[in-house]
Amino acid sequence: MKRRYILLVTLPYLSHAQSADYSQYVDPFHGTEGDGNIFPGVVAAPFAMVKLGPDVQDGNRDAYSGYLPNGNIFGFSMMHESGTGGAPKYGVVNQMPVLGQVENPLADLSVPRAEPDRATVGYYRSALENGVIVELAGTEHAGLYQYTFPTGQSTSVVIDVSHVLHSFRGMGWDQTYARGQFNVFEDGHYEGSGTYNGGWNLAPDWTIHFCGHFSATPQVVRTFSGVGDRASRYDASTSASGTERLGGVFTFGQGTVTSRVGISFISTAKACQNVNNEIPPGTELPALVSRAVDRWNTDVFSKVATTDTVPSNLQQLYGSLYGMHMLPSNRTGENPGWASDEPYYDDWFTLWDTFRCTTPLVQILQPAAYEEQIRALIDIWRYDGFLPDARSSNFNGRTQGGSNADNILADAYVKGVRGAVNWGDGYAAMVTDAESVPEPNNDLSARDSSTKHGRGALPDWLQYGYITPKYTRAVTRAMEYAGNDFGLYQVANGLNMAADAEKYLGRSRNWRNHWNRDVTSLGFSGFVVPRNTDGSFVEQDPLKCGGCYWAEPYYQGLPWEYSMAARHDMATLVGYAGGPETFVRRLDKMFEPGIDPGNPKFNGTIVNPGNQPSFATPYLYNFAGRQDRSVERSRFIAKNYYNPGVAGLPGNSDAGSMQSWLLWNMIGLYPLTGQTTFLIGSPWFESLTIDLGGGKRLDVTSTGGNSNTAYYVQSLEVNGQPWDKAWVSWSDVFENGGSMAFVLGPEPRSWATGELPPNPASGGM
Ligand SMILES: *[C@@H]1O[C@H](CO)[C@@H](O)[C@H](O)[C@H]1NC(C)=O
Ligand SMILES: *[C@@H]1O[C@H](CO)[C@@H](O)[C@H](O)[C@H]1NC(C)=O
Repeated sequence: MKRRYILLVTLPYLSHAQSADYSQYVDPFHGTEGDGNIFPGVVAAPFAMVKLGPDVQDGNRDAYSGYLPNGNIFGFSMMHESGTGGAPKYGVVNQMPVLGQVENPLADLSVPRAEPDRATVGYYRSALENGVIVELAGTEHAGLYQYTFPTGQSTSVVIDVSHVLHSFRGMGWDQTYARGQFNVFEDGHYEGSGTYNGGWNLAPDWTIHFCGHFSATPQVVRTFSGVGDRASRYDASTSASGTERLGGVFTFGQGTVTSRVGISFISTAKACQNVNNEIPPGTELPALVSRAVDRWNTDVFSKVATTDTVPSNLQQLYGSLYGMHMLPSNRTGENPGWASDEPYYDDWFTLWDTFRCTTPLVQILQPAAYEEQIRALIDIWRYDGFLPDARSSNFNGRTQGGSNADNILADAYVKGVRGAVNWGDGYAAMVTDAESVPEPNNDLSARDSSTKHGRGALPDWLQYGYITPKYTRAVTRAMEYAGNDFGLYQVANGLNMAADAEKYLGRSRNWRNHWNRDVTSLGFSGFVVPRNTDGSFVEQDPLKCGGCYWAEPYYQGLPWEYSMAARHDMATLVGYAGGPETFVRRLDKMFEPGIDPGNPKFNGTIVNPGNQPSFATPYLYNFAGRQDRSVERSRFIAKNYYNPGVAGLPGNSDAGSMQSWLLWNMIGLYPLTGQTTFLIGSPWFESLTIDLGGGKRLDVTSTGGNSNTAYYVQSLEVNGQPWDKAWVSWSDVFENGGSMAFVLGPEPRSWATGELPPNPASGGM
């Protein structure tokens, strides 16, 4: 979509949404293509439960968020995720406008678009080839569909309760419709529910209820049921229920018709309450759109202000802020699983993706939501037995490596999140991860142990202090379990549980047991490799990992990459790798083009900027006294692999994790989750102000530079004092706010000659 951007000069600490409309910089299609899989439809508030948008079929491509740029639209539905890979989830509670009377509501009713879809924050529009214009707006638990029908035609809206997004990858992760019900009432409104299962998290049956109203009286109302593409019953009955496909058809004369729909996980009555509270009869679409814009400006965009006026920079800044506030979904008051006064958030895709850059940024930008999210994670442990590593449709599923909620809880704890969080329970939840083996869930992708939650390979971790090839993803799990145990150490330490603290600090060093100093690759020696029960190392080429997927020892990253993954023990790692100079050359090697033929998108570098295991890698030079090189590498990635366009993300957004990585690059910091340390990079702007809440703020300023050619740090002052360290801590600039004033230039300068970043687990053994 082409849009005109109006340039705004904003005040550095502007904090009232009314003062500026930052949503003008947000293109909801940013990151929808090129594997980003962003959802471009209506998300009326940050973390809103309703995500209303089109569902597209385009051959055998999976439409992860429902949207694809080409192909046919087969409905507009109320629930989606954003930026996911794996397999599609949701695409439920739909409506599909069709010309005429509709002979067979179960036939393929999909249609191409007459022109590309359009969207702005809170608004979506599709022009279908059949002449129908569909416009969408919404609220947190309800949506508004506005249909403009072509003249001279009667038109029908088909509601197919069996409608879901399908997966064509053949992984066994498709969604299935199980059963439904559909009832039309005398006043013309309809209510019902659908039950579904499957999707990327292998969920059992779950149910969503809905309640819909039309603004016009239909000429004809019918319900249907049937199997496959044949409606065996299609008549004036007012209800349908059972395991067959079923739903209703509402036929109208010409003109404009709006439909208000509410959803709820609790009941149809709650779904009706949701729509009537949030979109009462007579609500106009533009009013909902401007309410959504206000909400995003107030709650999200106005938290970050810059004096920069370069349109592409502002588009990336505000577009990234938008893209990182889609998931998880705030389902407080909508939890069918248990009655509790705690907040409830679902659609965690996935903590493995988001713990690195997203959750530390959510804490800074959304302290209230963040505390709710921490409480929600702990409440899931209370009732489901384990913290999730990923979760959707009220079911934990798809743990990729470690139990990374441990990292997030540790991060929240060490950065002072207290409020209404019960840290006794929080720590007990982490101990469950660290000590209790989860039941196997027989995941076809990895049958050896649970992928549902917890640490499937825990028996080896406890018995040997490393993970044997009996378990899939053995090395990935070991590296992550070490980080997770470090998280337990942090919280135990804070809670004055000295014995636990010592135990978990010791366990956090067990990644070292996978280090085989005799393996060499490209002139470097020492890599983490799988290890047998007898202690011998498995032979391993550090440049290979087979498919790097569920069944392999390394998950979505090469041995080279996992050999850099001990963030809490970097001094040991630098030493193992041969000392600072060798470590720097080793990092350089990871950015050299043409080494990994499996990584063509990134010129064959070992580092894969399109995936999370490589997120921190460009910044690790700070641990070896070469902050300039961190700036060079991270800026190269930011400028070459990110842009404001539809394909502007280097890989799956993964619930905004890519956008968060970019935002940290713009700020000029990189968080080490679970520690209070932030590695220093280089800021993009002359001025960036982050509203930290409670009257506190972080001011990042720079002089002498520009983000494309003159970005090396020449000198830095933190809170007005000269600074010679390549890191700051939470208390330096976030706890009470602070300032960082950079002088930048076109050539590297050795300014960070002070103390190296902390290595809290180094030493010992
Ligand atoms: C989450 O949803 C609940 C219920 O709608 C609401 O009270 C709460 O304020 C929401 N949280 C945020 C951060 O918006
Ligand atoms: C990719 O490699 C080629 C040749 O080595 C180089 O010219 C180009 O700049 C590289 N591009 C990126 C984005 O790394």
